[in-house]
Parts: sequence; structure tokens; C-alpha cells
Amino acid sequence: MSHIGSYDQRVKNFDWSIAEKELGYHDGDPINIGWYCSDRICEMGKSDKLALIWEGHSGDVKKYTYNDLRVNSNTIGAFLKELGIKNDDRVCLFMDKIPELYIGLLGILKIGAIAQPLFSAFGDESLHVRMENAETKAIITQRKHVAKVRKIRDTMPFLEHIIIVDYDGKHPLREKETAFRMDEAEKVEKLDIHPTKAESPSLLHYTSGTTGKPKGVKHVHYSLISQYLTTKWVLDLHEDDIYWCTADPGWVTGTSYGIIGPFSLGITQCVLDKGFGADNWYQFIDKYKVSIWYSAPTAIRSLMKAGEEVVKKHDLSSLRHLASVGEPLNAEAVIWSEKVFGKPFYDTYWQTETGSMMICNYPGMKVKPGSMGKPFPGITAAVVDPDSYEVIDEPGKPGLIGFKPGWPAMFRTYWGNEETYRNKFKNGWYIPGDRSSIDNEGYYWFIGRDDDVINTAGHLVSPFEVESALLEHEAVAESAVVAKPDDVNMEVVKAFVTLNPGYEANDDLELKIMNFIRKKLSPLAMPQEIEYVKSLPKTRSGKIMRRLLHAKEWGEEIGDTSTLEDDE
Ligand code: PRX
Repeated sequence: MSHIGSYDQRVKNFDWSIAEKELGYHDGDPINIGWYCSDRICEMGKSDKLALIWEGHSGDVKKYTYNDLRVNSNTIGAFLKELGIKNDDRVCLFMDKIPELYIGLLGILKIGAIAQPLFSAFGDESLHVRMENAETKAIITQRKHVAKVRKIRDTMPFLEHIIIVDYDGKHPLREKETAFRMDEAEKVEKLDIHPTKAESPSLLHYTSGTTGKPKGVKHVHYSLISQYLTTKWVLDLHEDDIYWCTADPGWVTGTSYGIIGPFSLGITQCVLDKGFGADNWYQFIDKYKVSIWYSAPTAIRSLMKAGEEVVKKHDLSSLRHLASVGEPLNAEAVIWSEKVFGKPFYDTYWQTETGSMMICNYPGMKVKPGSMGKPFPGITAAVVDPDSYEVIDEPGKPGLIGFKPGWPAMFRTYWGNEETYRNKFKNGWYIPGDRSSIDNEGYYWFIGRDDDVINTAGHLVSPFEVESALLEHEAVAESAVVAKPDDVNMEVVKAFVTLNPGYEANDDLELKIMNFIRKKLSPLAMPQEIEYVKSLPKTRSGKIMRRLLHAKEWGEEIGDTSTLEDDE
């Protein structure tokens, strides 16, 4: 039985001050996530406890205690300070899941700078738009990714430092480039931690919308309050647990629950810096005796596909609690996991903007396979009418999810885009843009997104970003990008294109265009299929009607197209 107690009891007695008290935080005090995730744990007498067990793709293993976390993050912080990085400066982390990423994030936060983690598989264009928007002052990266930075550095005058964490001296460093090797650097025992306050900015995560460029979601140090408590209650982490969050810190799950949550609780976590493989994953759980596992539906569906035989090859008896996030967790996956692992995956729903879990299944709560669960205590949630934004009080009736603003981890704005931020609020509700219904027991049932954003393997891809990139290919005249259903990834990117004169619609060109997008944006954004068309359906004023193409892909009724003919 978990230490959470009954859900109803928790909701009744809830106050965020529960987390504040446990963290020893009082209103108005300095609050620095970097300090809470390392120094404080050491002060609690856990300096020698393992914080991070890391395994690389070639099988090499590194281990860091909480004292190592403290000292190494001090060292990175001091190094950045020496370079002239000040509080509120944006520092991008552009690395694979290596220890420098996890510890570097804490170092950045300790000096009051803003950490901007970006997925290392991003191509130069994806990197560029996000750094340009943030006016990033320094980027910490690896040799293998530096070519992408070099390609765009001259267009970013605000970028002053390119820090390479595995520089081997083989090629000369170029202007603005600096080498920093964390494990070999002279350690900084004491660092003046910047006295960030509750509302001081901490992280900038980029997320994709339907239109326009990616938005920088600004979080603050006070987010710790939500992240700490949700990690404790929903993931049910205990002192002796070994935790594995499979998410990459380039995305919000990898920071909120792959860094901040577990480290602020002083838990030992494992990281596997290796691509997905059922055998690898089970072996990893077996080897490190993982007890709490936070993953994603695409991974679970891939494991289902790999079958049960491979499960039997490993001892997975250490597993105590499993949770999932990022996309709808289908009922079959929950039932399968119960059968194969002896416990279900508990679904959790939230997003980059919410910063922490919002609707979840808790240990000890009845799981209804296919439902996202119920709002976390302290979260006021509802399903509202899409036109009036009034609460729908009828079980089973679909509407838009709405949250009453004010929980600690809620984003504070979109970087430099206050208007889009304000538009997310309607009638006093924050509208995350997802459709759901609520059943008569208060469980939420996800229906779908309320926009054209593609959710592929739990990652959001903007059709607009892909369409814009496609237009940069010399063969492409026009394009429309939609989601196409996929058994494992839920959705994949599909592009419809019309070609410029002189180009022949063939497989070779399709591969070339796919590769062009993969390099420019990322493997996630790469269309899995390109359909050549003579023309694209448009409204009277010439806007491409993505919805029509989407409906075709999903075999949905298109209905009355006359309304679609008008601009919205
Ligand atoms: O559409 C919802 C879907 O993913 C979106 C958030 O994506 P992102 O900001 O990248 O954050 C992902 C990790 C927190 C949501 O608006 N989503 C997330 N969790 C679920 C989900 N859809 C269905 N069920 C979920 N559990």
C-alpha cells in the first residue's frame, strides 16, 4: 500500500503548504531548485547517497552521489559565472542524456540563469528558431552536435559562448568555443547560490502550436512545490526506490520528473542513454533493480509488440509502480501491463505549460483502463463548453479541459509572446487545448486535441513548422501537413505536396524531401509519408484546409464542406 492515503481524503485536506512545509520553505524565502536538488539533500545527511546512475550506449556506467551532484553543479555554475553568465541569461543545454545535462541544468539554476534544454536530435533550423527567440547567451553541447551550432552561430549575435563538454583537443576550437570537462574540472566546493525567489525564472521549454513559431514556456523556481509533491504522491517515490524516467530532459517530463522531482526528494535514479529496445530496457530494469518506472504510451505499445517471451528472460520483480505520460494510454496497454508485469501503468496527463501532473491515476486509486484519472489535489479542473467556456456538468458530455490558474508549476508566460499566453485563458480557465469528458465518478476520459498539432510518440510537432520547412525544399511548391494514424506512435507526420515545374513525383524525391526535413527539424518531424497531389484543398481566400486532409487520413466523415470553405 502506498503512503498516499485515500484520494478523497487528500483532496479534502489539501493545501500546497504541505509541500512548502516538507521543503522547509516559507513565503518570501529564496527558493533555488539547484540548491534544493543537491545542497539540501546533503544537508539532510544524504551526501553519500547515490543520486544518478548513468549508463551510456556502449555500456559504460557512471555514478554520482548527492555530494557529487552538489559539487559538480557548483563547478558548472562557477564556470558559467566566470564566462560572464548572469542571472536571467538563457543557457541552452543541447546534449544527449549524459550526466552533464542533468547536472548542468542544476548548475545553471544555481547561478540564477535560465536553463533552456533542447532535444539533441533537433536539426539546425529547429535549434535556430528556439535560440533566436530566447536570445540564448550560451549553449552547452557535445562534439557530435557542435556542427549544427556552427552552421547557425553567425546568425545569432547574442550567442557568446559555445561550451563543449567532451572536447578532445583534436581539432582547434573556433571563436566563442570553450572546452569544459565536468569530471576532470577542478571542483568548486562552495558556490554563492543566487537567491532566486519564487517568481524568478528557472526554465524555458519550447513547445509547438498549430500556427507560428515554437513558444518558449517560461517556468519559475516556485514550480518545485508542485513537482516535488506530485513526484512524491503520484509516482509514489520512497526513500529506497530506484527510479527510472525514460523521458529526455529536452522535453518537460525529463526535467520536471527526470531531474527536479526525484532529486528534490533525494531519490536514486537511473538514466539509460541508449535508443529503445525491449531487451535493453528489461535488462536495464533487472540490472539496476528499478522499482518506479515513468514512461510513455508509445514505448509501452512497442514493448507490447515485442511480446511476452522477452519479458520472461529478465527478472522484473523489483518493479513496484509504473506510470505513463504524453499521449493517450489505451486500455489494452494498461490491461497488458497488468498481465505481464503484474501491475498496470498509471496514466498521468499534463503538458509543458502546466509544468507538473494535472490529472492522474494514483497508487491506491481504482484504475479505469483508458481513463487519465482525476485531478491532483489542489487542482481545480473541469470540462467546459467550447463556445461559452461554461462548465459542463453532465457526465460523459465532451468539452474542453479547463484548469483554474494558480498551481505552483503553472507557466508564467510564453517568452516574448504575452498575447498568445493571455489567449490561453477563457472565462477564468486556463485552456490546455484538449478535449475530454468526465464520467459519473469524476474520472477524465481523453478525446483528442482541439488543434492540428501532431502528437507523435508523445512529442508535439507543429504542422506549420513542417510545412514552412517543406517550402524551403526546391521541389516543393505547396504543402499541407497532418497527422496520420499509427499503431505504435499513435500519430505520425504525413505531408501532402504539390511540386514545382520540372520535378518528377517519385520515390527518390520522397526520400530526399524526408531527409531534408529530418536534418533541418528532427527525426520526429520527418514525414513518414509524402503524398504528391496536383492541388491542395483551399478556402475561398486561399487558406489550405488541413482539416479535410486530416479527416481523409482518419476515415472520418467530412460532413458539410461549405463551412470549411470559409476562413475561420
Ligand atoms: O494533448 C495532450 C497530450 O500531450 C500534450 C502535452 O504535450 P507536451 O506539452 O509536449 O507535454 C508532454 C508531457 C507532459 C497534452 O496537451 N497528453 C499528455 N499526456 C496525456 C496526453 N494525452 C492523453 N493522455 C495523456 N495522459
